[in-house]
Amino acid sequence: MDLTPDLDTPSPARVYDYFLGGSHNFASDRALAARMEQAMPDIGHIMQANRAFLRRAVRTLVDAGVRQFLDLGSGIPTVGNVHEVARQLAPDTVVAYVDIDPVAVNHSRRLLTDDPRTVVLHADLTQPDTVLDDPALREIIDFEQPVAVLLVGVLHQLTTDPAPTIAHYRDRLAPGSYLALSHASSDRRTDALALRDTYNQGYANTARMTLRTRPQIEQLFAGFTLIPPGLVQLPQWRPDWPVDPDEDPRRFATYCGVGSVDPKVSPA
Ligand SMILES: C[S@@+](CC[C@H](N)C(=O)[O-])C[C@H]1O[C@@H](n2cnc3c(N)ncnc32)[C@H](O)[C@@H]1O
Repeated sequence: MDLTPDLDTPSPARVYDYFLGGSHNFASDRALAARMEQAMPDIGHIMQANRAFLRRAVRTLVDAGVRQFLDLGSGIPTVGNVHEVARQLAPDTVVAYVDIDPVAVNHSRRLLTDDPRTVVLHADLTQPDTVLDDPALREIIDFEQPVAVLLVGVLHQLTTDPAPTIAHYRDRLAPGSYLALSHASSDRRTDALALRDTYNQGYANTARMTLRTRPQIEQLFAGFTLIPPGLVQLPQWRPDWPVDPDEDPRRFATYCGVGSVDPKVSPA
């Protein structure tokens, strides 16, 4: 896959970077971000809540004993990367980052060049065999041991049904492994539809947003057992501090959850 970025066309990775306050975005990305904010003024807040869920999920999974992470759709490195969060608790954690976006991959490789316990793959996550059989990934990840697969903030970007792809990854996972995901939804929030239309026009069909209902997102955990608190809105998943009672969690329009491959392994 070509690693030359097209800076004239916005990319989901760079627009997300913009909303998180990063510096790896360009005029085309910022122009689309402005249009997305018109459609949904608090979209930046939602993206930050998504990133915060990722951090809490990683900490929970390290606490549960996981030392291997497969971060699919990992994005442009920013504050609180998976390996940084995990290694605060377990310095021996290994992480394979996978992204389709050249800027995300180039920047991740630059950051991690001297880190033997990470790999950065430029790959399409919807081709699981390419990812799972990559020799560099196999050097650090042992699928006989528990692995946490992260699909955070990415599945609504896929143009194909994610279920068969997730099943393919699941079938390779040992007991004690996990899936963590978050997914945008239009439930209770009609401006999510305007956001989706802005997104789809803005990316000129190089990326498309597919919104799913809560039951549809729950089905993506087929073969996994959701651990408490189940499938909830972003700020409700094991918050670090009490959820703001004045903030309606439904405004986040994004469900998230963590599922275990083995129902016996379920951190309280
Ligand atoms: C919104 S970012 C999420 C980043 C990170 N997971 C997080 O939640 O903070 C979504 C990422 O998924 C990547 N992506 C989208 N489709 C992909 C695909 N088919 N294969 C690999 N990566 C993909 C995008 O390039 C982007 O970097």
